[in-house]
Amino acid sequence: MSTPTAPATDLLDPAERLTRPELEALQLERLQWTVRHAYENVPHYTRKLDEAGVSPADIRSLEDVRLLPFTTKEDLRQNYPFGMFAVPMEQVRRVHASSGTTGRPTVVGYTETDLSNWADLIARSLRASGIRPGMKVHNAYGYGLFTGGLGAHAGIERLGATVIPMSGGQTARQVQLIQDFQPDAILCTPSYLLTIADAMEEAGIDPTSTSLKVAVLGAEPWTNEMRVAIERRLDIDALDIYGLSEVMGPGVGNECVETKDGPHIWEDHFLPEVVDENGQPLPDGERGELVFTSLTKQAFPVLRYRTRDLTRLLPGTARPAMRRIEKITGRNDDMIILRGVNIFPTQIEELVMGIEQLTPHFVIELTREGRMDAMAVRIERHPSLERGVCEAAAKVLAERIKTHVGSSVAVRLEEPGALPRSEGKYKRVYDLR
Ligand code: DLL
Repeated sequence: MSTPTAPATDLLDPAERLTRPELEALQLERLQWTVRHAYENVPHYTRKLDEAGVSPADIRSLEDVRLLPFTTKEDLRQNYPFGMFAVPMEQVRRVHASSGTTGRPTVVGYTETDLSNWADLIARSLRASGIRPGMKVHNAYGYGLFTGGLGAHAGIERLGATVIPMSGGQTARQVQLIQDFQPDAILCTPSYLLTIADAMEEAGIDPTSTSLKVAVLGAEPWTNEMRVAIERRLDIDALDIYGLSEVMGPGVGNECVETKDGPHIWEDHFLPEVVDENGQPLPDGERGELVFTSLTKQAFPVLRYRTRDLTRLLPGTARPAMRRIEKITGRNDDMIILRGVNIFPTQIEELVMGIEQLTPHFVIELTREGRMDAMAVRIERHPSLERGVCEAAAKVLAERIKTHVGSSVAVRLEEPGALPRSEGKYKRVYDLR
């Protein structure tokens, strides 16, 4: 791992150098524009604001964002496919869509200006991660309707780096190309980087020996414990990139390599809030659901979009005027309720990563035994350790889960390679009830 150094200030965007009051003035101007633009061009927002008795002229301060009604995924579904677009279709240069595993997919659109802003923000995110013009970047986020691949692609080019547009999957080939092309950085989900590291070892390549120096990882929750494990295993800096299709895609926020303390939200383009389960705004520092209002988006403005992602807002550090989010704990929908106890998969990940004899390959299975819900953690044993040693480690894991999470769960040791490997977003929880 390289020693984190402060960024050369001449590399920062002007917006990254604003003072907080300057930033807030810019946000207010952009918020007023966004609300008017959405109200005047999207029938859904016209109706919602009229029903709430709010007019764009009522937005006189940043706090006035709280007057606006929330937007949910359900609102987007009901307006499928293009009903939330705020510009004529001829001005839409690209669409992306979420996978839609539950119900209709959600479709988002971009004007030329939106695509350009997005590329700028990815470039900013990569720079914050320590990537520089002239470097080679292996992009293993999936290309296609998923926002990760093409979103990152344009930003790598914008930065002035060389993009290797690999997409997800074909893991053996990924390993080969990393050997042949000698990229400086890799972009993929954290779980897929583990798959790639395993494949390197299977091919007899020491994962610490490659040309990779930086990984920009996101699209799924991952813990600081996982970061430490990934950094050691590949001898790289691992940075967290956050985003979601509805708000833009990857690059809504990104960590800075000099602090690695949670993604800075690029607040010149997005206004974040955190709210409780009743939608009441929470002060900075308190945990709840992250909500975003876009500030510059033309084709697909969003007003108070409820992300379902759980975190808290923290003061800026490496970019003092822009607030950070704590690494995402999980989504509302990921929360497991087991016999009255709330459990997030990331809590289990934290505990797994704390036991050296265990691998990071685990899934959670929920079943019903009689009238009781039961949870099992299936985890692969270490290929280079004896089964007995791993059995003992599995017992320790079960005890730690009992102590820290407050629930008895079965821990089942699996043979190496027994569990599915990630090629993108990893499916961690199987609900068999
Ligand atoms: O996954 C955008 C993205 C692509 C982000 C590549 C980073 C890298 P969606 O498919 O719409 O978009 O999924 C968005 O993924 O609401 C979070 O629940 C989760 N997510 C994204 N980034 C992170 C992260 C992309 N860094 C949903 N940490 C979001 C935790 C993340 N969860």
